[in-house]
Amino acid sequence: MRKIAVIGAGQMGTGIAQTIAAHGMHVMLTDIDLATAEAGKGKIEKAVTKLVGRGKIEADAAEALLAKVTPIGEYAPMAEADLIIEAATEKEPIKQAIFESAGKVLAPTAIMASNTSSIPITRMANHSPDPERFIGLHFFNPVPVMGLIEVIPGLATAKDTTDRVTAFAEGLGKEVVLSQDEPGFVVNRILLPMINEAVFVLGQSTAGIEDIDKGARLGLNHPMGPLQLADFVGLDTCLDIINVLYRTTRDTKYRPAPLLVKYVEAGWLGRKTGRGFYDYSGDAPTPTR
Ligand code: 3HC
Repeated sequence: MRKIAVIGAGQMGTGIAQTIAAHGMHVMLTDIDLATAEAGKGKIEKAVTKLVGRGKIEADAAEALLAKVTPIGEYAPMAEADLIIEAATEKEPIKQAIFESAGKVLAPTAIMASNTSSIPITRMANHSPDPERFIGLHFFNPVPVMGLIEVIPGLATAKDTTDRVTAFAEGLGKEVVLSQDEPGFVVNRILLPMINEAVFVLGQSTAGIEDIDKGARLGLNHPMGPLQLADFVGLDTCLDIINVLYRTTRDTKYRPAPLLVKYVEAGWLGRKTGRGFYDYSGDAPTPTR
């Protein structure tokens, strides 16, 4: 694959675009308008400038990477893409509208992929022009650093589509886990119940925020505790995913922790809003309870 398009210039979309460009492919980056797409490229520039400053990459490699990222304000140029990756917000109606619009310019042999964290691929494929060329391609945050991509074929996905996106994912230097199209796939099916349970533990005052996170960091050797990780992922995204698990399986073991719902209702969504389980306004995060 030579040219890729990424729809969504948020945390995940910009990380995906950065990783693709770092592996020598051209990437078009789009969002609701050109200004948002350009701001997304600005985030990539900030990230690679940091890497140059830390001696991780050379300045000319950073320049070459940035030259491969083209912000676009409309879908028409994506007709040249071999692969379109949707990385928009985890709301199904928004994703459906994107598949329908982007589907109008999807080239005859190109593939459309969704970076959904948990929404069924088979169901979303019906909003794309060709379910045989539709697939789940689930990246992990921070994308340039994390070593895994989940590949999730839907019921109608052709084997050739799965093979091509697997080769693409491996070409980004990632390992692939192939998952059936079941709620939460493999990783989030395991991760989100853990995060949700950590919020129950907090809500029941079994321990405070710092001790819960310390428990997972030191007792389980996790790089981040579950509440830190929830802030990192975004509490709204965590709630969206656990709700998908709950609603699709109707299994009460996935019911969202009431405190998670409250934090989202308060707009305390984690790092991106400056406050979640931790407050990020100072030099170092401080627990809010
Ligand atoms: N581009 C390239 N490299 C980057 C980067 C970027 N944007 N951001 C960080 N890095 C590199 C740094 O240069 C550094 O490299 P080095 O090890 O060679 O020096 C390395 O990544 C670590 O970065 P930092 O030193 O800044 O930070 P930490 O050592 O504290 O690690 C972390 C940060 C990698 C985020 C680590 O805490 C971690 O692994 N946390 C868990 C992350 C996780 O679980 N992610 C999955 C979330 S779930 C998900 O995404 C699925 C979704 O559907 C919900």
